[in-house]
Amino acid sequence: MFPADMKDAPIGVFDSGIGGLTVLKMMRHALPAERFIYVGDLGRSPYGSKSAETVRRCVLQITAFLLSHHVKMIVIACNTASAVAGDIIRECAYPVPVIEVVGRGSEMALEMIPPDHRGDARIGILGTDTTVRSGVYADRIRVLADARGMRRPEILQQACPLFVPLVEEGWWSGEIPDLTAARYLRAMREFKPHVVILGCTHFPVLSEPIAKALPEGTILTDCAPAVVQRAEAILRERGWLVPAGSAGSAEGPAETVFYCSDSIDTFRCQAERFLDMPVDFVHHVDLETVSIREGDLCCPRQISTVKPSSI
Ligand code: DGL
Repeated sequence: MFPADMKDAPIGVFDSGIGGLTVLKMMRHALPAERFIYVGDLGRSPYGSKSAETVRRCVLQITAFLLSHHVKMIVIACNTASAVAGDIIRECAYPVPVIEVVGRGSEMALEMIPPDHRGDARIGILGTDTTVRSGVYADRIRVLADARGMRRPEILQQACPLFVPLVEEGWWSGEIPDLTAARYLRAMREFKPHVVILGCTHFPVLSEPIAKALPEGTILTDCAPAVVQRAEAILRERGWLVPAGSAGSAEGPAETVFYCSDSIDTFRCQAERFLDMPVDFVHHVDLETVSIREGDLCCPRQISTVKPSSI
């Protein structure tokens, strides 16, 4: 595909399941004339309790699938995938730009530190087991703090794997999420963080029970607004942005096509709840059959041998 056609191409967004819909929702709102393809790998979720190798294999198959649909950008709307496979996806997708959530979330957390605590900041990180184990959030924050000449914040991480099924079950508030959050966040509460990163795209839905379990005034950050900002900036810079007001946006956002690797009915019900809109059709995709042998992954586009710089 030539750059001139890129403008008309869709944006690919994916997650292990439905958590990434929190990112998609904001993207559809901010970029109403853009077309989207969303892949939810429900058949193989949760990613958060799987090994880095397994997650990498799964997300390379999704990347290959999205590239075969000629997307102009890939948004990894999953912290676990961003943590363990962000670099490899970026390399494989090049020259298609890839936006991941860990980098954006880390930048945002630093920006949200109250000005009078920039010298003694405490940041909490909530995520899946795999994300927490990878340590990437803590590493990124330290690198960013050094680059900005800030004192490195004190960091406490907490894996909260049970939040994922709670969200998927639709238990977003009430006694059970409150108790679960209180149990997971006991040490975090003692830590008295200034900012807490919701380092899993499922977690913003549980902001209410999470906030209740933390000291009053703790700032919770969700990466979605930073992802949207970055996506818009890249599209604009490359001349690939479809401006609001173009086809599709008059009668609402342009088309989003949904693919799911498991029960399409389950996905449809959950997607409607997340997006707060009717989802008429979901395609089933068998991601296990997508080839990621060397050479195949990139065949929909020519891959450069030059390592792309970080976006
Ligand atoms: N939504 C995914 C994330 O941001 C994780 C959910 C899962 O464990 O599959 O990490």
